[in-house]
Amino acid sequence: MGRCVFLVLAALFSVTSTQFKPPYAEDCRTGMYPPTGPTSRGAASWYTLNLDLPPSERWTAVITDKKTYLANMIQAIKDLANAFVPSGRLVELVDITLPWMLDTLPNPFKEEIKGIATVSGIPLGEVVLFNIFYEVFTVCTSVVAEDSNGNLVHGRNMDFGLFMGWDVKNKSWIISERLKPLVVNLDFQRKNQTVFKSTNFAGYVGMLTGIKPHMFTLSMNERFSFDGGYIGILEWILWKRDGMWMSFLTRSVLENANSYEEAKMRLAQTKLLAPAYFILGGNQTGQGCIITRSRQNSINILEIDLKLNRWYVLETNYDHWEEPFFLDDRRTPAMKCMNQTTQANISVKTIYDVLSTKPVLNKLTTYTTLMQVSEGKLESYIRDCPDPCMPW
Ligand SMILES: *[C@@H]1O[C@H](CO)[C@@H](O)[C@H](O)[C@H]1NC(C)=O
Ligand SMILES: *[C@@H]1O[C@H](CO)[C@@H](O)[C@H](O)[C@H]1NC(C)=O
Ligand SMILES: *[C@@H]1O[C@H](CO)[C@@H](O)[C@H](O)[C@H]1NC(C)=O
Ligand SMILES: *[C@@H]1O[C@H](CO)[C@@H](O)[C@H](O)[C@H]1NC(C)=O
Ligand SMILES: *[C@@H]1O[C@H](CO)[C@@H](O)[C@H](O)[C@H]1NC(C)=O
Repeated sequence: MGRCVFLVLAALFSVTSTQFKPPYAEDCRTGMYPPTGPTSRGAASWYTLNLDLPPSERWTAVITDKKTYLANMIQAIKDLANAFVPSGRLVELVDITLPWMLDTLPNPFKEEIKGIATVSGIPLGEVVLFNIFYEVFTVCTSVVAEDSNGNLVHGRNMDFGLFMGWDVKNKSWIISERLKPLVVNLDFQRKNQTVFKSTNFAGYVGMLTGIKPHMFTLSMNERFSFDGGYIGILEWILWKRDGMWMSFLTRSVLENANSYEEAKMRLAQTKLLAPAYFILGGNQTGQGCIITRSRQNSINILEIDLKLNRWYVLETNYDHWEEPFFLDDRRTPAMKCMNQTTQANISVKTIYDVLSTKPVLNKLTTYTTLMQVSEGKLESYIRDCPDPCMPW
């Protein structure tokens, strides 16, 4: 797996040096909500996951509906791997090695992944691969904003599939396109009561976007750094397993933390396999932050601070105290649109406008999720970015 990741990274350079046009930006969008038209493929469908069932049975309904798409998606990953290691050795390795790696994962993740493999008929190693995949290649935009009445709104674009196969004819990322039909909203329940809700890719048991109604909202963005995920994942393979998968931590926090402060503490202090940004919103004024993580601990927490006129915090994939990479500046356009909107006009509707403005919306964007903690509400929409549109 480590080798696969490095090979994919090597491909980055050949792809970026050709075929892409200069950045495409546009004026801040307005009136995009409710979502219709060419940038929205409609709302994601809802499924209930019963936490009272044994882990291996929880995903049955989701996977029964989505198994064909999941198989297509995994085939695309295998095609990609075969393109790099043509002998088929890599795929062979996945089928042989990853089932063994599964046993090193904690429960309930291990049993849930096994259940997904059983229901879908997809080899266990390939479902494990699919679950590891996301720990490595997400680029996103997340924002938590406080309106003039102290209500918090949390929005995020999930961008996924960078550098993994550009479809020249369709001008799209092969992986991003295959992910879109896998986007689902999940309502995790115990004793028929909602514990938390999330937007997920079917077949993936970690959490990237979720809400604990009336308590907190959470999203995770990738943080690229020298001491990056690849090193953590290699170490994990080589038995040094004292860090936690990032998206397993977010899931555990959504499931078990019972306040903004508790969630913040766990997200800041739990040792991780790779660096990450956690974007957390609470349920009252001033509760919104970006936690910038190294693998060991939190290196910075930026909070909403109304006294400093900081009524929102916004994160893409760069440390907030550094300039973003000039070819990938989604932060400046997103902040420009937030500033233009003003605090007085912030709502789910206007956050959707910000997240619909190119290049915040781009060819990698698979979904947009909007969360309102005080109403316990999560909604998500599958996105398209018609040309002209930035590849990322
Ligand atoms: C390109 O798009 C068309 C129409 O949406 C689709 O039928 C076709 O499968 C796509 N090609 C690839 C390689 O995904
Ligand atoms: C949950 O609701 C279903 C029907 O809505 C009911 O049959 C079942 O007994 C309920 N379970 C619990 C634990 O309350
Ligand atoms: C906010 O969360 C805290 C801790 O969970 C809870 O005690 C409080 O009732 C919540 N406040 C609101 C307004 O929901
Ligand atoms: C948005 O407003 C904040 C606070 O006033 C300011 O620091 C920032 O530079 C502005 N950003 C843009 C892109 O307008
Ligand atoms: C809020 O939006 C409305 C229309 O959408 C506009 O008329 C109004 O000027 C805006 N308010 C602020 C403070 O920008």
